[in-house]
Amino acid sequence: CGIVGIVGQAPVAPLIVDALKRLEYRGYDSAGVATLDNGTLDRRRAEGKLVNLEKRLGEEPLGGLIGIGHTRWATHGVPNEANAHPHFAGDVAVVHNGIIENFAELRDQLRVEGADFASQTDTEVVAHLIARALKNGASPQEASFATLKQLRGAFALAIMFRGDENLIIGARNGPPLAVGHGDGEMYLGSDAIALAPFTDSITYLEDGDWVVLRRSGMEIFDMSGQPVERVRQQSSGASQMVDKGNYRHFMEKEIHEQPEVISHTLARYLDFAQGTVANFDLPFDFAKIERLAISACGTAYLAGLIGKYWLERYARLPVDIDIASEFRYREMPLPENSAALFISQSGETADTLASLRYCRGEGIPIAAIVNVRESTMARESDGIFPTLAGPEIGVASTKAFTCQLSVLAALTLKAARARGTITPDEEKAFVRQLAEAPRYVSQALKLSDGIEKVARELSHVRHVLYLGRDTNYPLALEGALKLKELSYIHAEGYAAGELKHGPIALIDEQMPVIVIAPHDRIFEKTVSNMQEVAARGGRIVLITDEKGAKNATLDTLETIVLPDVPEFVAPIVYALPIQMLAYHTAVLMGTDADQPRNLAKSVTVE
Ligand code: G6P
Repeated sequence: CGIVGIVGQAPVAPLIVDALKRLEYRGYDSAGVATLDNGTLDRRRAEGKLVNLEKRLGEEPLGGLIGIGHTRWATHGVPNEANAHPHFAGDVAVVHNGIIENFAELRDQLRVEGADFASQTDTEVVAHLIARALKNGASPQEASFATLKQLRGAFALAIMFRGDENLIIGARNGPPLAVGHGDGEMYLGSDAIALAPFTDSITYLEDGDWVVLRRSGMEIFDMSGQPVERVRQQSSGASQMVDKGNYRHFMEKEIHEQPEVISHTLARYLDFAQGTVANFDLPFDFAKIERLAISACGTAYLAGLIGKYWLERYARLPVDIDIASEFRYREMPLPENSAALFISQSGETADTLASLRYCRGEGIPIAAIVNVRESTMARESDGIFPTLAGPEIGVASTKAFTCQLSVLAALTLKAARARGTITPDEEKAFVRQLAEAPRYVSQALKLSDGIEKVARELSHVRHVLYLGRDTNYPLALEGALKLKELSYIHAEGYAAGELKHGPIALIDEQMPVIVIAPHDRIFEKTVSNMQEVAARGGRIVLITDEKGAKNATLDTLETIVLPDVPEFVAPIVYALPIQMLAYHTAVLMGTDADQPRNLAKSVTVE
């Protein structure tokens, strides 16, 4: 999941491990580093976290001024030491992100020719293919290029060669890869954050690019073997300090950053002084389009689902919303007067990117809400709406989600004005409501005590049900997603009205039911659903506002009371208690809140 390569002036192994630590946020389950030291190619690898690799390096250090390193999120083969990268064959060492789709047929061919495989990974075939070409007399550069042409799938690679201690070759086809420019040193990394301690001068490879790095500089080629020019830029990501500050986890820090980052994001899209949506560019005209197709994955998808409720209600714009892994294959007809919107924190998620490219093929205008402005989705869209959340390190998305909601709220107002479904006065009122969102979010952060009490309760159960109606339905899904990914407790989110159509069968004293229900138009309906739960001995945790707490008139295990907030901004505010609940439950249960097991931050494989 993370790649680092250095052609340097000082021993590189410790530097590579430090850079890999900055990529830990992407999630991984084994790690390794290889170096060349006066003709010796050697490696250390370890299952589990980087501390294990550091221990191995402590026992048996690696010298050398050139090396490559990797954190692996298992795809082919279990996360043990033998499957950890770097992989070797002959004089070649390789680290790889992504999936080589035709690896089985390539491996079979190589086996026929007598190659021995030491791992179950798809990566090892790359090392063998290059080693075979070297044996047949090709130069490292020729051997790498010839091999790249044989690979299908999505991959980023870093390759090193015994016999040349001034050469790393990198390649990108899918997952991102960045080149860092140093002074007599060159670097390769999965992103600029990894390279931040070394340099903020970065060149991003484009899809199909491969690069030859030497201490003196680099040269980039395309898949026809022609040299290509790519811009060198100052990285914004690199200059940002990535540390936990006084917080126990990045997730806790990121939850607490929300008032600030939401207000930065809103300030970009709203003109608070005028009480209007700001003047920003759109790749399509909201007044002219008849449909909007939104797709995304995970938490970003749930932000999109809330966006659908908003855009349809306030702007009367029909929205189709899909999970990107479904959208990309379901061959949805996209009429000419439609547009597409993709939502992604990383801007690299493979399924979302594939959906974007499908829409590109259909010829409709494409916009993306992304947090990483240098990302592939940002580059391939006709227009982007950046979220200003700053680097999000916790695997489970928190601040990116509320910033995505903030952008969607502003886009809703933009669409509603363009389509004439709200008046300038209504626009002013909505802008004023959004301006207050950061303050409400700060108030929500103070709820810790009640939330910890509920978290203690949850830490003893095996199943939890989340219910909500309208925009609280996507929040119920998000609550369940957060709880299951962080604490490994089975949780399901349901539209409260669907309770009777299935999940009610599960209700007993053992399964807490978390109901997200501000005192809105349909509050009474949700209260009826809570009565149905109570009548069957179910224990209710009600997340509501002051009015709701007064009017609910039923016994709850706990009622978490938020300030009364306008309906339009409620989803941004109600995201907080569900994030905090999942976080506190994880802390109580001793699971890793920042890097839950099996999960990755940036899913660049299908
Ligand atoms: C992973 C992360 C989620 C995230 C999803 C989509 O599953 O763990 O937190 O919501 O990917 O990622 P994206 O970068 O496209 O928003």
